[in-house]
Amino acid sequence: MSRQEPKSNEQGALWNGLGGQSWVASQDLLDDLFRPIEDLLVDSAVSVKPHHVLDVGCGTGSTTIALALRLGGSGACTGVDISEPMISRARERASLEDVAVTYVRADAQTYPFDRASFDLLISRFGVMFFDDPVEALANLRRAAAPGAAVRFIAWRGAAENPFMTTAEHAAAPLLPQLPSRRPNEPGQFAFADRDRVREIPQNGGWHAVGIEPIDVPCTMPEGALVRYVSQLGPVGRALQQADDECRARVIAAVRPAFTPYVLGGEVRFAAACWMMEARA
Ligand SMILES: C[S@@+](CC[C@H](N)C(=O)[O-])C[C@H]1O[C@@H](n2cnc3c(N)ncnc32)[C@H](O)[C@@H]1O
Repeated sequence: MSRQEPKSNEQGALWNGLGGQSWVASQDLLDDLFRPIEDLLVDSAVSVKPHHVLDVGCGTGSTTIALALRLGGSGACTGVDISEPMISRARERASLEDVAVTYVRADAQTYPFDRASFDLLISRFGVMFFDDPVEALANLRRAAAPGAAVRFIAWRGAAENPFMTTAEHAAAPLLPQLPSRRPNEPGQFAFADRDRVREIPQNGGWHAVGIEPIDVPCTMPEGALVRYVSQLGPVGRALQQADDECRARVIAAVRPAFTPYVLGGEVRFAAACWMMEARA
């Protein structure tokens, strides 16, 4: 078997399979970890007083719900996601919290949204997985009202986010079949290249594209680190299919590699991201 990241047309399968199940199982941990990024996006969304917002690749729904709560009925929120397990969790959460949010399970690249129906489109880490990002941005452009804004947060490259690949580097000798990261292919770091990130919305029909690097401090309790490594990313997915002995050996090898990120009972790292904005 070659060391390959799942092919672009495999993203739907990934997010409906192990990838989506891992995010559902880790939802509380990820919500806390990425809350500072959610806060940035939601604060910026609220400031434009939107009437109808689309949250692209909304996952288990945290950002959509947070924004709906902040808008308090002054704006409608819709989340779209390709993953059945994740959108099901999002629906459950909205129902439990009694928040009026609409969730659509669909491929945002091709779904026939009502034309010109959203005046703001947001995403936290939900736009790097499209088979064809230009086609996706063109489809979202058709869903955008005249003058609507998009505000997406996406990861910069792996080199600027060493925390994110610490586990796979440390586990590589024990898990030789781990997928490699292929530049520009659909996946976590597909939007690493700033010029490419600018061209994608431009070629999708958006204008006034602005891209700013943001470095957002993220934390989790030290006690959550093993759970994080065991459930998430390429190593987490591999460990879910491994036997107990292999899992124990990998955790023993990986855990010390995170020592530089542990301070005072907390794991701390900066998420190196782009904030991308554009206008319809
Ligand atoms: C890294 S997760 C982020 C989830 C969520 N935005 C958050 O921050 O918690 C990426 C999400 O994008 C979704 N996704 C991937 N490809 C998609 C597509 N073509 N259309 C809609 N959603 C997609 C995945 O199912 C997943 O929920």
